[in-house]
Formats: sequence, C-alpha cells, structure tokens
Amino acid sequence: MTIQNVAVVGAGVMGRGIAYASALAGFHTTLVDVSEKQRRDAYSFAEHTTQKGIKKEKITESQAKDLLANLTTSSDLESTVNKADLLIEAVPEKRELKKKILETADQHAPEHTLFASNTSTISPTELGSYTNRASQVVVMHFFNPVHRMPLVEIVKGLETSEQTVDLIKFSSEKMGKETVEVNEFPGFVTSRISALVGNEAFHMLQEGVATAEDIDKAVRLGLNYPMGPLELGDLVGLDARLNNLKYLHETLGEKYRPAPLLEQLVQAGRLGKKSGRGIYKYNA
Ligand SMILES: NC(=O)c1ccc[n+]([C@@H]2O[C@H](COP(=O)([O-])OP(=O)(O)OC[C@H]3O[C@@H](n4cnc5c(N)ncnc54)[C@H](O)[C@@H]3O)[C@@H](O)[C@H]2O)c1
Repeated sequence: MTIQNVAVVGAGVMGRGIAYASALAGFHTTLVDVSEKQRRDAYSFAEHTTQKGIKKEKITESQAKDLLANLTTSSDLESTVNKADLLIEAVPEKRELKKKILETADQHAPEHTLFASNTSTISPTELGSYTNRASQVVVMHFFNPVHRMPLVEIVKGLETSEQTVDLIKFSSEKMGKETVEVNEFPGFVTSRISALVGNEAFHMLQEGVATAEDIDKAVRLGLNYPMGPLELGDLVGLDARLNNLKYLHETLGEKYRPAPLLEQLVQAGRLGKKSGRGIYKYNA
C-alpha cells in the first residue's frame, strides 16, 4: 500500500501545520474544517509560511508552488475521507468529538485507510475501539509549530499492527520528521517529561528559590534547553499545562500533582502569552 491522499481534519494550530508538512512532502492533502474562517486562515498560513521559507532558503519557489497545488480545503469530511489513504485527526481534545469524527470516517473511508490522531492524551486503543479497523489506528503526535519541530511520537494501541506503524513512520519521514515509537502510556514520552520539569519550576518559584527570569536562564544556559520551563509554560498556555498535569496526576499518581501557584495563576485568568499575562507580561 502507498500513501498518496491525506485528509487532515481540523485546521487549527496543529492541523494547518500538519497539512503544510504533508503537502510539502508531496501528498495530495485536503484540510477539513467546519469553520470557513479556519479553512481560509489555514490556507493563508500555508501561503505566508511558503513565502517565509523561500526568503530563508528553506524551500525553493518550485517546492512552494507544488505545496500550494497539493493543498486544498473542504468542509465535507465524508467525501474527503472517501478518497484518503491516511486520515490525520487534529480536532480539539474532546473525546466525544474525536469519537464522532472517527465513527463517521470509518463508515466512509475505503478499507485500507489508516487513521492517525494528534491527540495529546487519549489512548490509541480507545480511539481504535470507535472504529472497525483498530489495527489501522494509531496516535501520530506532532509538535507545535509543526513546520519547525522535527519529531513525531508514534503511539501504538493494543491492536495497532506493525504494518500501520511502518506506514506512519514512512509518511512522517517523508514529511521531514524523525520518529520515535512509544507504547501506550499516559503522557507518552514528551508530555510526561515536560509536565514534570514545568511543574518543578512552578514549585521553585513558589518556594522563592530564584526569580522566574533566573530559573529560566539557569535551565537555558546551564542545562542547554532552548527555552526555560516558565517561558515555555506561557507559550503553550498555563491552562493547557494545568490540564495535562491534572490528567497525569489522575492516571500516574502523586508526583504529577499540579503546583498550587500554577492553579492560582489559571484561576486568575493569567493563561500565558495568549491572555497577555502568565508568569511574564506581554504586549497586546
Ligand atoms: N496546540 C498544541 O500545542 C498541541 C500540541 C500537540 C498536540 N495537540 C493536540 O492536537 C489537537 C488539536 O489541537 P489544536 O491546538 O490544533 O486545536 P485548535 O482548537 O487550534 O483547532 C481545532 C480545529 O478543529 C476544528 N473543528 C472542530 N470541530 C470540528 C469538526 N467536527 N470537524 C472538523 N473540524 C472541526 C476547529 O474549527 C478548529 O479549527 C488536540 O487533540 C490537541 O490536544 C495540540
């Protein structure tokens, strides 16, 4: 089996980045979203990102032209999955919504179509159970911003076949990504590590170990992280960080209990960059 047609469902932060990487890889890519504005913004994002890519000599003019020719948008999930070899779901992290998308896609996609989800937390075994093709369902966890972040975590469910994993690995590599294979555990590899490091930084700030600036600087320069844990928290959103920790606390235990300071900042509406203030202040 070969992958030619890719359907990406959800044209938000992640879906538009995934569709960009997929179209650049040469896959005929259709980005499906219920919102017309999101579809338009996602196509503009591709146009803008190709222009920036040309200026920085990351892609050629001809690659940019091919990318835009490979990318279309649609509001119609059924007719799009009907032609897809691979579906990548990137709708919001709501179980019922993902279930509905997968059930509908399962009814309308050809038998061979693979289903991948970009979920941050939901089990691939559970996602597979919403379909009659559990062996072809997998988590394909991209990172934000997708066009710059080089990793895809491939998370296998109980029934996911080796053939599915191989094809997802091949597709990810064609999109210019490195892959790691992960067995099904809450938080995969990256969310688990990142949640713990981030939470520890909040505890340190609360205990008065150092200022926020110095905690971030110490981790950047002393541990060689590209960003400090507190500035990263502001970038991802403190609410998203808190939800992730709550989920890991529920599933993996006490060491993931969210730091009280993090809960307090979220209660105060200080959600990070997107709300203008988190640990740090941002201009509008
Ligand atoms: N944002 C991140 O940094 C990040 C990183 C890794 C994984 N994820 C995961 O990726 C997924 C998407 O996250 P996001 O941040 O891109 O969300 P987002 O809110 O930016 O985008 C979701 C998109 O889905 C669309 N949508 C909603 N219902 C739909 C439907 N029925 N059919 C088609 N489209 C529909 C929305 O209009 C929106 O454009 C989530 O599962 C999230 O946990 C997010």
